[in-house]
Amino acid sequence: LLAAFTPKTLQGKRVLITAGPTFEPIDPVRGITNLSSGKMGYAIAQAAFEAGATVELISGPTALDTPYGCQRYQVQTAQQMHDAVFAHLTNQDIFIAVAAVADWHVSNASDQKLKKNHAGDLPQLSFAQNPDILAEVAASKHAPFCVGFAAESENLIEYGAQKRLKKNVPLLVGNIAQNTLGQDQNELLLFDAQGHTALAPSDKTSLARQLITEIAARL
Ligand code: CTP
Ligand code: CA
Repeated sequence: LLAAFTPKTLQGKRVLITAGPTFEPIDPVRGITNLSSGKMGYAIAQAAFEAGATVELISGPTALDTPYGCQRYQVQTAQQMHDAVFAHLTNQDIFIAVAAVADWHVSNASDQKLKKNHAGDLPQLSFAQNPDILAEVAASKHAPFCVGFAAESENLIEYGAQKRLKKNVPLLVGNIAQNTLGQDQNELLLFDAQGHTALAPSDKTSLARQLITEIAARL
């Protein structure tokens, strides 16, 4: 019902969003993931739809329902998320990278379940770097307006500003990892070419709506 009264700041716009964690297999039953719940990304997808946008959501494994009105595509690994993003990138106006993407995958993942070795031999995992989805989208031809996220454990003001420049995006949203991962509440810092501004601590639904308003104002 609330959506009916929301200003349609993204009417006619197409928005692509990544959300949730990724999962990098070690073997058929094990893997490496992180504490992202998907709540922030899903709330942003819902807020974008309420604002009138057509929303496609590329999501890692989460326990959440598809946000109303949005099209969701499920992926597991960072590489799959990368491929799904590029398969849906054409004609997008806005790309919002909210996912907590694994920086590495296990390069020697096993096709068979690893067995415990009673002689005490431990599995030796090797890692290879994953593609940086946001940086690649931002550097692509006809790039949409790109919004990045950064969850930092410290030095947020310094790292947020640096990360915005490193990823070459007009807007980067910073939050403190310990305050957001898996939680319902959050506190956001918005970094752009002008500097940074704070969105006061609130629930993720309210922050998502404020963020959509901020994005629409910058298009
Ligand atoms: N991101 C991405 N693909 C990756 C890694 C990150 O698209 N392989 C996106 C995230 O969705 C987020 C932004 O990049 O919007 C910043 O992610 P973050 O992990 O904070 O940045 P990194 O460059 O990976 O730096 P760090 O060493 O701090 O992890
Ligand atoms: Ca990272």
